[in-house]
Amino acid sequence: MFEDLERLYQAASAALAESKDSAALEAWESAYLGRKGAVTLALRAVGNLPKADRAAYGKRANEIRDALEQAYAQQAELVRAHELARQLESGAIDVTLPGLRPLQGGIHPATRTLREIAEIWREMGFQIFRTREVEDDQTNFELLNIPEHHPARDMWDTFHTTRPGVILRTHTSPGQIHAMRRYAPKPIRVILPGMCFRYEQISARKEIQFNQVEGLAIGENIRLSDLKGTITAFARRMFGADRRVRFRGSYFPFTEPSMEVDVECILCGGKGCSVCSGTGWLEIAGCGMVHPTVLRNGGYDPSRFSGFAFGMGPERITMLKYGITDIRYFWANDVRFLNQF
Ligand code: PHE
Repeated sequence: MFEDLERLYQAASAALAESKDSAALEAWESAYLGRKGAVTLALRAVGNLPKADRAAYGKRANEIRDALEQAYAQQAELVRAHELARQLESGAIDVTLPGLRPLQGGIHPATRTLREIAEIWREMGFQIFRTREVEDDQTNFELLNIPEHHPARDMWDTFHTTRPGVILRTHTSPGQIHAMRRYAPKPIRVILPGMCFRYEQISARKEIQFNQVEGLAIGENIRLSDLKGTITAFARRMFGADRRVRFRGSYFPFTEPSMEVDVECILCGGKGCSVCSGTGWLEIAGCGMVHPTVLRNGGYDPSRFSGFAFGMGPERITMLKYGITDIRYFWANDVRFLNQF
C-alpha cells in the first residue's frame, strides 16, 4: 500500500502538468485534493491500516498532500498568467480604447428660460424678489381677495400639509403680498420667480408642479396701458417682433380688470393643435391691475397708488420657443430630453 501511495503521487503530478486552463485545474483539484479527492481519501484510510504502519504511512501521505498543494498553486499562477496574455493578444481587452466619458450635466431648459425672462425684465427695471414655496392659506388666498368658500379656489386646489392652513403655493401671487409689505409705501418693480404646485389632472399642458414668474409694479399713475405696453415689449423680446400677441378679458379675484395674454402657437403656426388645444393660441400669462383690496392688504392706499401684476409660465414659454409638445417632459427627469438643450 505504500506503492499505491507513490503511484497516486505520480499520477496526480502528471495530471497536474497536463492541466493547462482554469477548467482543467478545477477538475484536477476536486479529483485529488477536494473533499472526495483521491489524496484526501488515501489520508483518511490510515485508520484501516495495521497499527505498526500507521505512523509512517500518515507521514508520507501528508508530505504528498503538501507537495501537491504547492505544485497546484504554482500551476494555477502559470495558467492565470497565460490566460491573461492570451486575452490581451486576442484583443478581448483593448487597452488603447479611450475611457467612457462621464455624463455631463447642463442647465435645465426651464431654468434657461427663467434666466432669459429675468434678463428681459431686468432691462426694464424689475428686480428679483424671492419668496417661499410653502405658504399659508392667508397669503395664498385670503389676502389676495379669495375668501374661504370663493369658487375661484377650485382653480387653485393644492397640496395640503398636516399642519392646518399650511399649503404649497398654487401661484407666485402670494409673493405680491410679501413684496408690498416689505416695501410699502415705496414704489415697487419686481419679478418673483419660483415653483408652484396644483392638484391637477396631468395632461400635455398641465402639470402638478411648474414655475411661474410673477411681476408687480406699484406706484402713482400706473395704468392699464402701462401693463399692456410692458407685456407687449416683453413678448417682442422673448418671441420676436413678428409673433402675434393678444390680450383677452379674464377674471382673477386679485386684479381688476383682469386679462390673459396669448401668443400665437408656434407648433401649428396658429392653425390649432393638441398643445394649444385647437385654438391656435397659447396662454402665457394672466395679468391685470392690482385690486384695491390687495393694495390695502399690502399696505398701500388705493386712492393714491395703483399698479399692475402678471404671472407667466416659463415652461409654456419654453414649449413655444423650442416646439416642445408635452409639458410632462420637464420634470420626468429623462436625460434624453434634457440633453437636447
Ligand atoms: N396667479 C395667477 C395664476 O396663477 C396669474 C396672475 C398673476 C393673474 C398676477 C393676474 C395677476 O393663474
